[in-house]
Formats: sequence, structure tokens, C-alpha cells
Amino acid sequence: MRFLLLLSALGLCWAQYSPHTKDGRTSMVHLFEWRWVDIAKECERYLGPKGFGGVQVSPPNENIVIHNPSRPWWERYQPISYKICTRSGNEDEFRDMVKRCNNVGVRIYVDAVINHMCGAGGGAGTSSTCGSYYNAHNRDFPAVPYSGWDFNDGKCHTGDGEIHNYNDAYQVRDCRLVSLLDLALEKDYVRTKVADYLNHLIDIGVAGFRLDAAKHMWPGDIKAVLDKLHDLNETWFPAGSKPFIFQEVIDLGGEAISSSEYFGNGRVTEFKYGAKLGTVIRKWNGEKMAYLKNWGEGWGFMPSDRALVFVDNHDNQRGHGAGGASILTFWDARLYKMAVGFMLAHPYGFTRVMSSFRWDRNFQNGKDVNDWMGPPNNNGVIKEVTINPDTTCGNGWVCEHRWRQIRNMVDFRNVVDGQPFVNWWDNGSNQVAFGRGNRGFIVFNNDDWALSTTLQTGLPAGTYCDVISGDKIDGNCTGIKIQVSGDGRAHFSISNSAEDPFIAIHAESKL
Ligand SMILES: *[C@@H]1O[C@H](CO)[C@@H](O)[C@H](O)[C@H]1NC(C)=O
Ligand SMILES: *[C@@H]1O[C@H](CO)[C@@H](O)[C@H](O)[C@H]1NC(C)=O
Ligand SMILES: *[C@@H]1O[C@H](CO)[C@@H](O)[C@H](O)[C@H]1NC(C)=O
Repeated sequence: MRFLLLLSALGLCWAQYSPHTKDGRTSMVHLFEWRWVDIAKECERYLGPKGFGGVQVSPPNENIVIHNPSRPWWERYQPISYKICTRSGNEDEFRDMVKRCNNVGVRIYVDAVINHMCGAGGGAGTSSTCGSYYNAHNRDFPAVPYSGWDFNDGKCHTGDGEIHNYNDAYQVRDCRLVSLLDLALEKDYVRTKVADYLNHLIDIGVAGFRLDAAKHMWPGDIKAVLDKLHDLNETWFPAGSKPFIFQEVIDLGGEAISSSEYFGNGRVTEFKYGAKLGTVIRKWNGEKMAYLKNWGEGWGFMPSDRALVFVDNHDNQRGHGAGGASILTFWDARLYKMAVGFMLAHPYGFTRVMSSFRWDRNFQNGKDVNDWMGPPNNNGVIKEVTINPDTTCGNGWVCEHRWRQIRNMVDFRNVVDGQPFVNWWDNGSNQVAFGRGNRGFIVFNNDDWALSTTLQTGLPAGTYCDVISGDKIDGNCTGIKIQVSGDGRAHFSISNSAEDPFIAIHAESKL
């Protein structure tokens, strides 16, 4: 029995479901559109020391350059070649980043765009981030090379070649997603070119991949590509380690394609998570935090060990992709911090924290007409991520991952790693609390009145620093102190008008 358990633990560890994070690091952060030189510095000065497990980086391969609108963020989802050459940096800079991040125990996960190349309307020429020639009219990408034979157009039966009906799995996978030229991944030649690209990144030292638009690829085609991948680089990973795989499958229910079809390949993005959590924290549709007692599979989500979870992502924080208006983002900072705090305290799924840039949001008739805007830039050149004296970021970078409440909850998750979900309490409304074994406890007041109550924390007696209102520094708390008595109980008071109406304490915030 013990031997079998050990084997299954090893199996999980070596397989595509494991993020290969170092010693008890339990979260990744998406540094959306950051330059490689800034990510390398951030790994060394912040992510490593603060216990972040890894970084999802924007697509590193050459993409089309769009001038109308001017350099939108989504141009990076329109590949021209697999050269490591984008606005984020060149291959030397990418290699330097991977090495420096790995050396401080922070993994790199690449956003892999392998479903398609650029849009059908992309024209012809060298308007690409590395100057490679392409011709979207006859589907010629000589820098790979792909030709017209390597695309799905013959297989799509919608007339105009576009996806129209999400209840038809063939359309979703064989036709063009918003006009993007759809690669024929059933061809061994295409699979080999994609695998060569991913293997190049694996050899450099990345730990895994987000598979963009995975729902638009057949699970079996993805598997055929994954079967061609190298094991991770042994400079940083144990021999036999498979790349971590998480597939972007938007499944809110009610469509032909479901997330479970992709479990054999790796983890899957659980889009219900942020949509539902946003609805609860906003108190829409009669939802209450008390209902979060059975959060996770109890809410119809996929199994925890297959889920990659997040409150918002680069798409739905600006109204693209799934989730709708309930999605919480940095624009709703107070509610957002509660949602991210809840996610990081709760054991369900592997967690990803979003780190964004600000843009000129401009709603007209309910739609943000600037949802296309790319990262902070000077004439198209991405701006450096500068760090202010108070440790926040400048130059238009939001850096949610540096907000004290979020950074400290990333640490909380590490401290309680592996501990069971215990001591749930709620008031039948929006005041809830729960613990993680005898290692951590969190209390929320999202009601419109004060919370004042004594709760069983499960923690050993002592004085603990609340890591939401402050930090433990030099053996003292800069924020609220919580006294846990010998029976594990502690009194909590949280005003409904507190800057952050939640409190979190854990084994390492004890004085
Ligand atoms: C692994 O990374 C090291 C360090 O960058 C490099 O020297 C080595 O060639 C890589 N291994 C493979 C198989 O590419
Ligand atoms: C919620 O909490 C408050 C104070 O802790 C309490 O007065 C109230 O009765 C509780 N229940 C509901 C349903 O509001
Ligand atoms: C801890 O900080 C509080 C104020 O937050 C202060 O009153 C107290 O003297 C400090 N204690 C120590 C031991 O430094």
C-alpha cells in the first residue's frame, strides 16, 4: 500500500499535471506583456524571495505587427514564425530570463499559440516582429515553413471558413477562430514543426506551456504533439520530468465541447471559477459567500487536480473570452483583493495570479472601445517595468502580484500547502471563515454590517499578525494582531467599511 502510494505520488510529480514548482511553491503569476529583461529582474528581486512558483509569459514567438489599431495586445496571438523574437525581447534575452528565473526557483511557462497563424486578412509582406516574410492570402509562412497545404481550410464546411456554431465540435476545431488561419494539426508535418518549437523552449529550460485556444484543437492532435516533446532540461528538473500542460478550454457549460475531453493531456483552465466567484463577491443573482462552503467540485467544477484557476485573465479582464460582466479585476480593487484572497486560501486547483497593465478604458454603450490597447509603450516599444520607492510598479504596470494583500496570500498558500479545508463558519450571509489544518485561517466580511465574533481557528495559541492589513516585520505586526487562545479560538472584528474587509493569519505570521 505504502509502495503504491509512493508510486502514485511520483507519477503525479513527473507528469504533465505537475507545475514542477520548487519546494512548496504553489502559485504562478501571469506577467502579461512584460519584457524578458524585466521578468528576469522580477524573478530575482521579488518572485523568488516572495515564494512565487512560476511565471506565465506572453507568447515568445514572432508575431504579426498590426498598425490599425496600433500594436494591440492581441497581435501576439497571431504567429508568423517560431523564431523567439517579439516586443518582449530576442532569444538571448529569453534564454537569460529562463536561466535567471530557474536559478532562483521560479519556473517559466510559455503561452504557446499553436492552433493557428495570423488572420486571413493579414495581407502579405514583412510586417512581423522579426521581419519574416509571410503571405496570408495563400497561407505561406516560409520562416517555419508552412504552405497552403498545412491549413484546415478543406476540412471546414461553413462556407466562409469561419466558426459560427459552438454546438458543432467539427466547426469549432476545423474552422477559423475569428479568421485566424487554422493549422492542420492532424498532419505529422505540422505536429513536428509545432513540437520542434516547443522542444526548443523545453531545451532552454521552460517548465511547461499554456496551450492557447486548445478548445479549437482536437484533443488527439494535441496528444500527438505532446508525445513528441522532450523531457525537461536536467539542469533544473529531475530526469524524466514532463512539461506542465494547461489547456485553454472555455467551458461554461452548454456547448458541444467540454473540458473533460482534455484531461488526458494535462490540466485545463476552469473558466467557471472566476465567473462564479465574481458573481458571489459582487452579490449578484442572490449569491452569498455562505454558499462557498462546498466551493470546487461541489459547484460543478472539474476535479481539483485537473484545474488551473484564476479570478481574471488577460482576455476576460477586458471583456474578451469568457465570464462576462461578473469577472473581477484590478479596476474593482477592493472586491478583487477579496476574490484573490479567497482563491489563494482555498485548496481547489492550481492558482494563477494576474498581473496587468493599465489602459484607457472607455465604455461606449456598455462596451470598452479600447479593449484592444497594448502594453505601456513608446512608439510601440514596450516600456520598462519601473519600481517605485513603495515597491509598487510605475510606467502603467499594475503589478497586482505586488499588492500586499495578494503577495501575502501567495505566501499563505505556500504555508498551508497540503493542509485540509477545515473549521468552515458562516453567518448564512456574506460573513465566512475557514482554516487550512492547523496552519492558517481566514475570515471575510462581505456583508453591509460589522462582523464581531469568536471562531475556532485550529491554530496553536499565540499572537498572530493579520497579513492583509499589514506584515510581520522585525517580530512585530504592522497591521492588526489576532490573539489565539489555548483552545484555538480567537475573536475577530471586521468593519464592513474596512479598507480590506478580511483577515488572514498563518503559522509563519505568528509572533
Ligand atoms: C539545458 O540547459 C543548460 C543550461 O542552459 C544547457 O547548457 C543545456 O544544453 C540544456 N540541455 C539541453 C538538452 O538542451
Ligand atoms: C450575519 O452576521 C451578523 C453579525 O455577525 C448577524 O447579526 C446576522 O444575524 C448574521 N446572519 C445573517 C443572515 O445576516
Ligand atoms: C509593536 O508595534 C506596536 C504598534 O503597532 C507598538 O505599540 C509596540 O510597542 C511594538 N512592539 C514591539 C515589541 O516593538
